[in-house]
Formats: sequence, C-alpha cells, structure tokens
Amino acid sequence: MQDFIEKTVAFVRDTLKDAESGHDWWHIERVWNNTKLILETEEADRLVCELTALLHDIADSKFHDGDETLGPRIAGEFLQEIGVDQTVIEHVQKIIRNMSFKASLGEVDFHSKELEIVQDADRLDAIGAIGIARAFNYGGYKNREIHNPNVPIEQNLSKEAYKNTQAPTINHFYEKLLLLRDKMNTETGRTIAAGRHAFMEDFLQQFYGEWAGER
Ligand code: ADP
Ligand code: NI
Repeated sequence: MQDFIEKTVAFVRDTLKDAESGHDWWHIERVWNNTKLILETEEADRLVCELTALLHDIADSKFHDGDETLGPRIAGEFLQEIGVDQTVIEHVQKIIRNMSFKASLGEVDFHSKELEIVQDADRLDAIGAIGIARAFNYGGYKNREIHNPNVPIEQNLSKEAYKNTQAPTINHFYEKLLLLRDKMNTETGRTIAAGRHAFMEDFLQQFYGEWAGER
C-alpha cells in the first residue's frame, strides 16, 4: 500500500507541476493531510481514501473544456499501470466523478464512506485561513473587486449562476464558503469545519469594521 501511495505522490507532483495555484500540488497535499486527519477518527478503506485525495484534481474539468470524464480516466489508467486492484480503481473513479461542489449542485448518483471523507477533506481546504487565501487569490486572478457594498449578496445560486458570477470575492463567502460547514458529511469533518467557519466569521467582522473605518 505504501508503494502505491508513493508512486501516486510522484505522479501527481509531476502532473501538477505547472497547475494554477488553486489546484496545485500544495492543494493536493493539504487535502491528503486533511484526509489522514479525518481517518484518525473515521472508519474507512484507507487506500481508497488516500489515492482519491491524491488524484481528485488530476484533470480539473474547468481547464479541459468542461470534460468531466478526463480526470477519472487519467486516474484509472495510472492506477492500472502501477497494479492497483480493479475494484479499488473503480471506487476511486466513482468518487472523483461525484465529488466536486458543482457536482453536489447537480445530480450525484454515488455515495460511500470514502467519498464522504475525501469530499470533507477537500471542503476543509476551501474554508478557514486557507480558504480565505484561496478565495482572494482566485478573485485576483479573475481581476475581481475584493468587496463592493453595492453588489447584492446572492445565496443558493444555481449551478449555472455559480459558474458565471462576476461578483466581488467577499460575495463568494456567502455563495459557497459559509455554506460548507453544513454540508460536511462526517462527524469529524463537522467538528473541524466548525472551528474554521468561526475563523471566517471573525475575519468578515474585522473586514467590515476596517472597511467602515473603525479602529
Ligand atoms: P473546487 O476545487 O472545490 O471545486 P473551485 O475550483 O470552484 O473549487 O475553486 C477553487 C478555489 O477557488 C476554492 O478555494 C474556491 O473557494 C475559490 N473560488 C472559486 N470560485 C470563486 C469565486 N467566484 N470567488 C472567489 N473564490 C473562488
Ligand atoms: Ni480539490
């Protein structure tokens, strides 16, 4: 098992060496770490969880003309090459196919404990201090305003609206980041998310205070 993990780490590091910073190797490493943290207190197939954490963003559909079959295909071919069991491979592929926030806004047709854990691990990397950093980094990349009090806050966006929004980055907290705590699947994920959620609320309070010229 350790051998499969090490080979996968090398493959993912190499494949993502020029990836954009939202889904680079460091995102993968953090999701992998979150996965191992959750596995300390949740019962599941460790190999499936770790391999999926490592491979879940191997080909993000946003950067491949929305082709959502590419990631599972690349992951599957690689795992076959290094000799992982077919049942493990198929499980990893199903999780990757069903894991993204966008997928959760649409039709999801697969569930497993392992999906729950890796999805929680990925969501944890979108909240807290890291989540804040990633959001402003993404907003800067898209040349968005950090905040604009005249742009109304939208919650519960449709999949299409979520994809196309041009709203300032602060709005993204209400479109997604503050909703993630209540979407956590596992008890462990919920506990960790609660702390990171509270940190984002403190951040927003401080942000609005400074915006208004308070000391
Ligand atoms: P995921 O990889 O979880 O499916 P995305 O690819 O949508 O998420 O986003 C990658 C990172 O960029 C996340 O941290 C997310 O919160 C952030 N992000 C996505 N859309 C926006 C946005 N409109 N404004 C600010 N940050 C965003
Ligand atoms: Ni991810």
